[in-house]
Amino acid sequence: MTLHSLTTQRQTTRPSPDLGSPLALAVIVPTLNEAGNIAAMVAGLDRALDGLAWEAIFVDDDSTDGTAALLRQIGAYDRRIRVIQRLGRRGLASAVTEGVLATAAPVIAVIDGDMQHDEALLPKMYEAVTGDDGGGGCDLAIGSRYVDGGAASGFTGVRELISRTATRVTNATLRTTIADPMSGFFAARHDAFMASAPHLSNIGFKILMDVVASSPAPLAIREIPYTFRPRHAGTSKLDPRVAHEFFVLLLEKMLGRYVPVRFLMFAGAGLFGLAINLMVIGSLFRHAGISFAVALPAGVIAAMAFNYFLANTLTYRDLRLRGAAFLRGFVGYAAVCAPGAIGNIFVSTLLFRDGSTWWVAALAGAVIAVTWTYAATLLLTAKRRRPV
Ligand code: GDD
Ligand code: MN
Repeated sequence: MTLHSLTTQRQTTRPSPDLGSPLALAVIVPTLNEAGNIAAMVAGLDRALDGLAWEAIFVDDDSTDGTAALLRQIGAYDRRIRVIQRLGRRGLASAVTEGVLATAAPVIAVIDGDMQHDEALLPKMYEAVTGDDGGGGCDLAIGSRYVDGGAASGFTGVRELISRTATRVTNATLRTTIADPMSGFFAARHDAFMASAPHLSNIGFKILMDVVASSPAPLAIREIPYTFRPRHAGTSKLDPRVAHEFFVLLLEKMLGRYVPVRFLMFAGAGLFGLAINLMVIGSLFRHAGISFAVALPAGVIAAMAFNYFLANTLTYRDLRLRGAAFLRGFVGYAAVCAPGAIGNIFVSTLLFRDGSTWWVAALAGAVIAVTWTYAATLLLTAKRRRPV
């Protein structure tokens, strides 16, 4: 059978199904425990996008409140509602990317699942991208709190200050002039997003700025004002780890070409620990007149406690320990570090000659401890490492 007859046969036996007009817009909604917002979200999209051939892809990171099950219930009757449930993974940015990869729509929009973004703006954003509004079209239309007509009523006091500062830092770092680069609300040409996709860091919350920074060609961007609303239900997922990840993302976009950023972070935390170690030993021994033999272990324990606290609040936040478990965890951590700490104390004591060179001895000991901890961390986490 020739290729030609195969195709003709297919054409005659399977005419292409007519399911109405082709898909125009995919709305990507990242969700983590948003069950209380799903009904309002679906109703809002249904109202706002009337007349447009759209689908919504909810990308859920295995919420424990039944978000995915609820979405499937709705999706069984409403084919516009789709769900991607990810197991063992976390992160708003990577969730959005997977949603975009899963659609055939020529235009995508990204919106939070808690009603803070105004879904009524979606048609305007869609038309800004396609050019249906007579504006000539663009690659990216951003829902912006910080252009004329926009507002951030959902943000007050410290949150707004942080948001505005992050905006300045981001623009300075990426050499952009976007009024609201921290926005999680935007529409884009699917192919413009796809051009960025292979280069995305996908770390943390800030997918928009990742897309802009990772695009191989400069993007034509428009900003459209909207009012950021208070959350409909549930709680925010922003925590110190998210802020930390934002910092890592910025570093990665600035320096990622030259050095592995994860290593930089480890080195940074190590240097911090070292500074604390030397400060405690120095102040006890030099200024409080406590003997080196006592000041040294105190400095070692302080550095260990600091590194443990850092790991518990940032790096391993998902597995964070509190109360008695936090203390038990510290004992375990100290046990793992013990050989390095003992090596540290042994070498420092051996090298200690007199008061003026105490820091040489302390530093040499610290190198032993850091080397041990690094090796132990690599060994212990090698088995547990998961894709992000
Ligand atoms: N799949 C997935 N995985 N979704 C997540 C995750 C995650 O790890 N973390 C948060 N989300 C979802 C939430 O369920 C919500 O739908 C949306 O991402 C935003 O999370 P919030 O916790 O509500 O964040 P926010 O209100 O502090 O900030 C949001 O709004 C800002 C203003 O536009 C974020 O979207 C920011 O990126 C945005 O700038
Ligand atoms: Mn929110």
